Amino acid sequence: MKGLSNKILYGGDYNPEQWPRDVWTEDMRLFKLAGIDIATVNVFSWARNQPDEETYRFEWLDDVMDMLHANGVHACLGTGTAAHPAWMARKYPDVLTVDSQGRKKKFGRRHNSCPNSPTFRLYGERLAGRLAERYKDHPALLLWHVNNEMGWRCYCDNCERAFRVWLQERYGTLDALNSAWYTSFWGHTFYDWEEIVLPSQQSEHFSAFGHEATAFPAMSIDYDRFNSDSFLACYKLERDAIKSVIPDAVVTTNFQSNGTYKPLDYFKWAKELDVVALDSYPTNDTPMSQIAMRHDLMRGLKNGDPFLLMEQSPSQLNWKDVNPLKRPGVMRLWSYQAVARGAEAVMFFQLRRSAGAFEKFHGAVIDHAGHEHTRVFSECAELGRELQELGDKLIGARTASKAAIVFDWDNWWAIEHSSGPTTRLKYLNQIQRYYDAFYSLNLQVDLIGTDAKLDDYALVIAPVLYMVKPGFAEKLEAYTAGGGTFVTTFFSGIVQETDLVTLGGYPGELRKLLGIWVEELDPLFPGRTNSFVMNENAGPPGETYSCSLLCERLHTEGAETVAVYGGDFYAGMPALTRNRFGQGEAWYISSDPDADFLVDFSKYLSEKLNIKPVAQTPPGVEASARVKEGRRYTFLLNHNDHPAAVQIGEVPTTELLSGMQLTGEATLPAYGVFILEGPINS
Ligand code: GLA
Ligand code: ZN
Repeated sequence: MKGLSNKILYGGDYNPEQWPRDVWTEDMRLFKLAGIDIATVNVFSWARNQPDEETYRFEWLDDVMDMLHANGVHACLGTGTAAHPAWMARKYPDVLTVDSQGRKKKFGRRHNSCPNSPTFRLYGERLAGRLAERYKDHPALLLWHVNNEMGWRCYCDNCERAFRVWLQERYGTLDALNSAWYTSFWGHTFYDWEEIVLPSQQSEHFSAFGHEATAFPAMSIDYDRFNSDSFLACYKLERDAIKSVIPDAVVTTNFQSNGTYKPLDYFKWAKELDVVALDSYPTNDTPMSQIAMRHDLMRGLKNGDPFLLMEQSPSQLNWKDVNPLKRPGVMRLWSYQAVARGAEAVMFFQLRRSAGAFEKFHGAVIDHAGHEHTRVFSECAELGRELQELGDKLIGARTASKAAIVFDWDNWWAIEHSSGPTTRLKYLNQIQRYYDAFYSLNLQVDLIGTDAKLDDYALVIAPVLYMVKPGFAEKLEAYTAGGGTFVTTFFSGIVQETDLVTLGGYPGELRKLLGIWVEELDPLFPGRTNSFVMNENAGPPGETYSCSLLCERLHTEGAETVAVYGGDFYAGMPALTRNRFGQGEAWYISSDPDADFLVDFSKYLSEKLNIKPVAQTPPGVEASARVKEGRRYTFLLNHNDHPAAVQIGEVPTTELLSGMQLTGEATLPAYGVFILEGPINS
C-alpha cells in the first residue's frame, strides 16, 4: 500500500441506499463535524444496481460518489457481491449454497453465494468490471472493497465437481491421491475421480464432542484448502476485472472473525490483496491480548506492512446475546491499539444506524436520534480531530520485533481434524498462550507464516507444529544452525502435509533439530495436571510448574534435559529440553505448562537473547511501538477503568495526542492513551 493517504484514514461503512436523499445532505454535514474522510459504499447494493439480468442502474451511486467528493470524503468502493439479488436466486438456483447436511438453501440473508456457482462468478465479475468502467476516473475513488467478509462453506454439486478438478491438479493421478489420503483404510480406494465426494455430514463427517469430526482428515484438510481457494478465485475474478480497467487500483477485502477466520488461509489470501483489511469486534470482556494478537497477525500477513482497521463498532454490537455499550473512552483506546500495532485506517461499521432489519441496534456514529449531540458522536468527533492532528506522523511506520510466533492455517485445520489424542487441544488457544506471555512482558512479537524470512529474528516459536510442510524443517534447521533460538512444543513434527505420519519416531522431521525422540502421547483428563520440575536455567533449580492437557514420554538424543516430569509413571523423564544445534539452540516443551512457566520462560529467553521490553508498565497498561525515520513512537494504552502511573524517563518526551512534554512519572487516565515520540533507541 503505497501512499494511500497522508494521514490515518477515518470513516466507515455508509449505506445511503437505506435513506432518502435529504438525509444524505445531513450526513455530509455530520461527517465533516466528525473528521470523517473515507466512506465504504455499495457493499450490499447488488439488487439495487442490477434489477434484472441485463439492466444496470448506477445513477444513485453516481450521486453518492459525487457527493462524497464534493465533501472531501474518499470512497472505499464496494463491489457489492456479498448478497446476490432475489431474482438471481430464483432464476439461477446454482447461486444458492448447500450445507454440510446436504440441505439446499433458499434465498435469504447475505454471504449466500456458492463460490463455484457459474452464475455467481459470471455476474460477480461482470459487476466489478462495470463499476470499474464507470468510476475509473472518479476523483472520490481511493480504494476497492471486494465483496464483504468472504467465506463460508458450500457442499453443492458444483463444488463437488470443482473439488475433483482441484484434486486432479494437486495429485495428478489417483494412485498419488490414494496414497496421500491413506485410502487403504476402511476400504476407500478410488478407481475413478467421479467416485470422490465432498467430505461432509453426508459422507465422512459426523458430530462428536461438540464439533464436526471427520473419518478422513487428509480429505477434510484438502477440502479446507479447496474451499479457501474457491473463495480466493472469486476474489481474484473481481480484482482482475477491476485491474484490467484500472491497473493501479488498490484492492482489498475485509477479513472476518477478528482476523482468525478458520475457513480461509489468510496468509495465502494476503498475497492477492494490495492491503490487508480487518474487521475487529471484541466484546467488553474480550481479553485485550486477544485483540493485540490478531492485530499483530494482520501486520504479519504481509510481512510487516500496515493494515486497515476496516470495521469496528463505535459502541455496542447487536449480534451477541447481550450487547452492552462500549464505555466512554474505550472506542478511542481500541482504535489506538490497532494503530499501535500497524493500522493506518480507523473505520466503523457503520456511519449511520439502520432504521430497520437486523442491524438497527448495532452501534453507529450517527444514532437514531439523527444529530450530533450524543456521547458516541462526540467521542467519534474527538478521535477524528486527533487523527487529523496526527497527520502523517505514523504513516509507513513499522514494528521492529526480535521474536516471532509461527501461525499456519494448514496446521490449524490438521490439528483440529485429528481424531485423538484429545479434542481439547485448540490451536488458537496455544498460539494465544505463548503470545500472552510476551504481551504481559511488553515484548514485541510478530506473527509470521511458514514462508516468512526468519533470519532477522533472535527467537522463533512454533507452538504445536503438528504438520511440517515441505521444506520447513530444513528452514528451521538452517535458522537455528545460523544462531537462532527455536522453540516448539508437544504434538509437533507428527505429520506431513497430507496428514500422513512421519514414521520412525516423533517428532519426525524435527527430531534431529530437537535432539529428542517422543515415544508416547498422554492426554490428561480435564482438571488433571502433572508438573515440570526445573533442574537448571529457565527458572531456579527445583522450581516446579503445573502442566496439563497432554504430556509426552520422551527420550533425549543429544538434547539436555532442563526440566523433568514431577508425577505419574514417567516422573523423572524429560519434560523440557534444549538442543544445541550449530550456532543456535532448539527447545522442546513437551506439555502445556501453566502461565507462570510461560512468562518465566519467555523472560529467561528474551533476557538471554537481549530482546528488550517496549516499556515497563503497571498491570493492564499495554505497550507497543512503531518506528519511522529514526523516530520511535511508543504507545501506552491503559485498559484499566482507573488511572495508572507510568514512567516516562528523565528525558523530556512529547506526548503526541496532548502535545505535552512529559518526564518522570505521569498519570495515564482510565482508558487513556499516550503516544510518546522519541529517538529510535529511547
Ligand atoms: C460485519 C459485516 C458488516 C456488519 C458488521 C456488524 O463485520 O462486515 O456488514 O454486519 O459485521 O458487526
Ligand atoms: Zn457450492
